Amino acid sequence: MKIGTPKETIEGERRVAMTPDSARMLQKLGHECIIETGAGADAGFSDEDYKEAGVEIAKTAAALWKAADVVTKVRAPSDTEVKRLREGQTLISMFNPAGNTDLMEAAAKKGATVVAMDMVPRISRAQKMDALSSMANIAGYRAVVEAANNFGRFFTGQITAAGKVPPAKVLVVGAGVAGLAAIGTATSLGAITYAFDVRPEVAEQVESMGAEFVFLDFEEEQQDGSASGGYASVSSPEFREAQLAKFRELAPDMDVVITTALIPNREAPELWTEDMVASMKAGSVIVDLAAEKGGNCKLTRMDEKVVTENGVTIIGYTDFPSRMATQASTLYATNIRHMLTDLTPGKDGKIDHDMEDDVIRGATITHDHEVTFPPPPPKVAAIAAAPKKEKAKELSPQEKRAAEVAAFKAQTKSQVTLLAIGGAVMLLIGAFAPASFMQHFIVFALACFVGFQVIWGVAHSLHTPLMAVTNAISGIVILGALLQVGSGNLLVVLLAFISVLIASINIVGGFLVTRRMLAMFQKS
Ligand code: NAI
Repeated sequence: MKIGTPKETIEGERRVAMTPDSARMLQKLGHECIIETGAGADAGFSDEDYKEAGVEIAKTAAALWKAADVVTKVRAPSDTEVKRLREGQTLISMFNPAGNTDLMEAAAKKGATVVAMDMVPRISRAQKMDALSSMANIAGYRAVVEAANNFGRFFTGQITAAGKVPPAKVLVVGAGVAGLAAIGTATSLGAITYAFDVRPEVAEQVESMGAEFVFLDFEEEQQDGSASGGYASVSSPEFREAQLAKFRELAPDMDVVITTALIPNREAPELWTEDMVASMKAGSVIVDLAAEKGGNCKLTRMDEKVVTENGVTIIGYTDFPSRMATQASTLYATNIRHMLTDLTPGKDGKIDHDMEDDVIRGATITHDHEVTFPPPPPKVAAIAAAPKKEKAKELSPQEKRAAEVAAFKAQTKSQVTLLAIGGAVMLLIGAFAPASFMQHFIVFALACFVGFQVIWGVAHSLHTPLMAVTNAISGIVILGALLQVGSGNLLVVLLAFISVLIASINIVGGFLVTRRMLAMFQKS
């Protein structure tokens, strides 16, 4: 098949859906590649780069659409582009099918198959094709860079001869893919970062990225994303009030606020209100990544930067991935290449559109002259859906005591059984084996028992440092070797020397590894 990529037609869009590297990989699948002249220029890929990668150059968009069996694009097609589609042709691009029903129906009428990259189901197997995540990751990173560019101070705190600089305080609202990328970038720049999300399961991820999760003092259960494939749904009015009260408390103290809160198929919730903006310090920056869906702050203007009367800069750009066109194109082209790999199972350049495949079915919005959107729910659950934990029942002190006694009895019983079996085995071996063997065997069995009991009592996360420390047990090799040094036999002395050397490396190495590992658990 011939895979073709036209130049993006939307003004200001700098990304391209095929890179020289992705073209090379597509050719390995048995496909030929063609690109419209100048399509990659804004993303830093010249026609020459494509030619070197074996890609044919089409002089016009019309020629490209005519030559290609599969057209890959970044943005949803324009009316003209849909008119160019033909029977049997496949289009792979972002589409926003819920908002572009007319275009979708027109494509179906033409008999073209459309694979919407923004409809790839969010299941583990599909992560390599998840263009929404690739782009959200860039948006989160770029949001912080843009904020830093508009913020008059360092993000990191410094004490210099010229004075003391306090670290910037950054609040990230919404800890999805973009939010987590923003947290990672802000903390790596040295800011003190806080984050909030309605889904409590992300608290651990937020903390692992070095930020502090903002918990609400609120009785109602926070949202369980598992019901909605890992996505948030609308909060109750009481929860929202508690959330806004918390934000009002934080607003005067924050230097940078990055909002990313979205609810699928809805306007973005208003979370950063006018009075919060008014209470922020002059020079503070808000980056509203939800600007395209109406914004989390109602003062945000889409694709614009505004400065409020009290000196707060509000950035509502919606083209963050396009502002990093080379990186964004590389990731997006890789997502497309993975989609084509799944569509070409035989690696023979022939597309096999398997509608039984969860990922392909989920992303296909038109096929065989029919609109196939919305897809049925995938057979496997989204990885974000954390299993619902049963709330632990509160026990009375008597019940707690009874439970502890029962657990102790069960443990003692299993240990006694183990010892009885061990004893019986030893008696059996003792009846046949020589006395010297028995002596060693008893030491061995006791060592196993004691070792098991000791290690079982240590937390799992500390097992590796524990193992490293137990390297010190090989000190016994050193003792043995030292006893042999005086034997007078040159070979024995040599072997003893080698033993001492290797055991010393083992012991010293063990301690060094333990030190490094324990340092990871210490907060500086
Ligand atoms: P999104 O862009 O739809 O929303 C961004 C974040 O805003 C979400 O974390 C959401 O919980 C939060 N939010 C919504 N309303 C809020 C409110 N009122 N206050 C504060 N926060 C609010 O989400 P995104 O980044 O697309 O990811 C959604 C989920 O999908 C995540 O759990 C993510 O882990 C999961 N996911 C799964 C993938 C996979 O399995 N392949 C790939 C990517 C994401």
